[in-house]
Amino acid sequence: MMGSKMGETKLDGSRMKVAQTDGTKLDAVKMDRAQAIKAPAEVCPLCEGTGWKTAKAKASGSTNDRRVTRCDCQLRTRREALLAAARIPKRHEHCELSNFEFEGSFSRLAPARMAACRFVEEYPLNKTGLLLVGKAGRGKTHLSVGIAKALIREKGVECLFYDYADLLKQIQDSYNPAVQTTELDLLRPVFKAEVLVLDDLGSVRPTEWRWDTVRLILNARYNDSLTTIITTNFADEPAAGVIEPDAPRVSESFATARAAVRDDTLGDRIGERMRSRLHEMCRIVRLDGENDFRKTFRSASFG
Ligand SMILES: Nc1ncnc2c1ncn2[C@@H]1O[C@H](COP(=O)(O)OP(=O)(O)O)[C@@H](O)[C@H]1O
Ligand SMILES: [Mg+2]
Ligand SMILES: [Zn+2]
Repeated sequence: MMGSKMGETKLDGSRMKVAQTDGTKLDAVKMDRAQAIKAPAEVCPLCEGTGWKTAKAKASGSTNDRRVTRCDCQLRTRREALLAAARIPKRHEHCELSNFEFEGSFSRLAPARMAACRFVEEYPLNKTGLLLVGKAGRGKTHLSVGIAKALIREKGVECLFYDYADLLKQIQDSYNPAVQTTELDLLRPVFKAEVLVLDDLGSVRPTEWRWDTVRLILNARYNDSLTTIITTNFADEPAAGVIEPDAPRVSESFATARAAVRDDTLGDRIGERMRSRLHEMCRIVRLDGENDFRKTFRSASFG
């Protein structure tokens, strides 16, 4: 289903052309994306490549009534191009809403799956994003990829998938003069994509620069009312030292001691201000099943 033959041929073609006409190392990813979205139709037998087909005139209409409508191939090509441009990694290609288990022993995942389906249904009427929270291997990436693919297929929405750590790494690499991608080339789609999936938020240790970068991205998307779907392994809890108004009072030294032994929270990883911004941008969906699917599948495949 993924990676249409047509789309792939086009992408390779454009990449080769770039290499031939220009010896310098152009940013292939950037080209792919721009080209993929504009990819022209292969010659279609229905419309002979015009993109228009004649619609049947009504029985009562005059014989001069030659109406034309958009040919189906136009929609299909656009959707294939969108899918190719969404950057869904190979290892997540199999992920669909339809193959996400939520019955029997997986019934604790049913609310999350329902939220995902409802999100697709309601988009773009409701543009509030999703924050999928749960421990590793609970199916967060699977659901978020399933959502992106459904949005593309069913609604022709432009989606973009980025792993948080990869994105930060690529932005950082773009400062390297040997790599001819500018920070802006890279960030433009991340700022502008109609729907961005940011997978594994907080997976790399926070630094001042990482916080600034996340803030830049999320604020840009917030200001443009664009939808962001986020997954994270970290509990949606405050940063160390932040005392919630309704939390039982504990001494400061106790809070510090507790913070030192507890696991990092999302607040620790992205900062409290970004966490509360996320709450404005997203609805929280918890995946708290007991199964770690990575273990299930690992043992299944070797068993
Ligand atoms: N409910 C589910 N039904 C079917 N497969 C699942 C389900 N949840 C997870 N998986 C599969 O298990 C693996 C790990 O899931 P993943 O989405 O990567 O977990 P997470 O992102 O929460 O760490 C993937 O191969 C995924 O397709
Ligand atoms: Mg994941
Ligand atoms: Zn056609």
